[in-house]
Amino acid sequence: MSSTWATGRGAVATMTVTPATPADLAEAEQVMREVLLRDLGGYRPRWHRDLDDLEMSYLRSPGCALLVAREVSGVLGTAAVRPCSLASPPNPEWLVREYNQPDVCQLVRVWVATAARRLGVGRALVERAVAWSLGPGGYRRVYLHTDASVPGAEKFWRSLPTREVLDQRPDPFSTVHFEIETDALLRTAGC
Ligand SMILES: CC(C)(COP(=O)(O)OP(=O)(O)OC[C@H]1O[C@@H](n2cnc3c(N)ncnc32)[C@H](O)[C@@H]1OP(=O)(O)O)[C@@H](O)C(=O)NCCC(=O)NCCS
Repeated sequence: MSSTWATGRGAVATMTVTPATPADLAEAEQVMREVLLRDLGGYRPRWHRDLDDLEMSYLRSPGCALLVAREVSGVLGTAAVRPCSLASPPNPEWLVREYNQPDVCQLVRVWVATAARRLGVGRALVERAVAWSLGPGGYRRVYLHTDASVPGAEKFWRSLPTREVLDQRPDPFSTVHFEIETDALLRTAGC
């Protein structure tokens, strides 16, 4: 997992996507807080406490990882992996039963700096996060949900090999749940 991940896409051809080290965390946190504020309505303690201690949340917690996309100018975006631990409510019980399993992880914090969007950064982060999940992470399935009211979010996930599991709209958070078709994703990525 120490190897870098170079994307073939033009504008960020020199980008690497790697598991974060302690040296990455301050910059990663800055990008994450900017995206949170600008795109996602800002920090809410109930949901975003992981940002207050990224090292403990992702570098020192079993089954967790934080991936950072970086080029010379700095960190472009993040993706994080953690054990799937959904609550019901607001999620239906059948969904919790299906995905709160030891072999399922949740993909979270797929957040790309505004200036770096539509260059393949998000996709590269997801590919690397899934590779980590099925490799060192030891998982077999990758779940995620998104707020489909955020511009671009739903289209982004549907552009990847994902399977919609549940569309909860019109719930208050426009939640759409997906499972990643991991074989297809990694095949496309050339892993
Ligand atoms: C959603 C997000 C992660 C996408 O990151 P990105 O680096 O711009 O995504 P990519 O460049 O890899 O896009 C891959 C594909 O997704 C689709 N896509 C991404 N953003 C899109 C948008 N705003 N509108 C329409 N389609 C979009 C496109 O099909 C795109 O391929 P293309 O550029 O060749 O057409 C980024 O916009 C973001 O951080 N948004 C705010 C946070 C968020 O909502 N995160 C996702 C939910 S957790």
